[in-house]
Amino acid sequence: MAELAVIGGTGLTALEGLEIVREEHPGTPFGAPSSPLVHGMLGGREVVFLARHGREHTIPPHRINYRANIHALKHAGVRRVVAVAAVGGITAEMSPARLVIPDQIIDYTYGRRHTFFEEDLGEVTHIDFTEPYDAALREHLIQVCRVEGLDAVEHGTYGATQGPRLESRAEITRMERDGCDIVGMTGMPEASLAREAGLGYAACAVVANWAAGKGGQTVIEMAEIERTVRQGMDKVRTLLERLLLRL
Ligand code: HPA
Repeated sequence: MAELAVIGGTGLTALEGLEIVREEHPGTPFGAPSSPLVHGMLGGREVVFLARHGREHTIPPHRINYRANIHALKHAGVRRVVAVAAVGGITAEMSPARLVIPDQIIDYTYGRRHTFFEEDLGEVTHIDFTEPYDAALREHLIQVCRVEGLDAVEHGTYGATQGPRLESRAEITRMERDGCDIVGMTGMPEASLAREAGLGYAACAVVANWAAGKGGQTVIEMAEIERTVRQGMDKVRTLLERLLLRL
């Protein structure tokens, strides 16, 4: 049984090189996940792949059924999840095409179904979220990047915004004051639901663009985001293959 799942984001709706063994279309108490679970082999190791925005990249960040996605992966029997996501770079190190293994999160999202612990509770449940990402899985990602010479920033605070619009310059200035290094739209509630489900969760972010008002540009072009993500995803594929060999 696969130990690891990969949730692919923008630029990673399928895992190149994955030899597909079977597809699963699970239902969950929360509805259907964004895409079928694709069970397959990558570099000789079992892995499960889920496309966060759907196979055709049609589900916007605020409409993703995060609960169904995490529930489906939990019930597929995986124990760890690597989340891949495109982000905007806020602080100086976070330049386009770099990989980032974030270590903290600030959640600016709203109105998303963000917990498994709201109905049929024997008692009110609070998870610890001091360190939102799984330390051991982060360390594996960092070590693989070092060994493979993949240029990655080994820390960073991920600010999760609601989307689907990009942010205003003032919002990014505020996020920087808050301590955010990168900005994306899908990191929450995915990370906290994984913690609630008892899954070890870590993220690999690909910086797609300078966030609003950063890097000297006055508008953010989607074409630029897509181009840079494509470059970054080649590194992500190498990272995932090598990670599977280590686990
Ligand atoms: N902001 C939010 N999410 C993103 C960005 C951004 O600039 N780039 C890629 N995902």
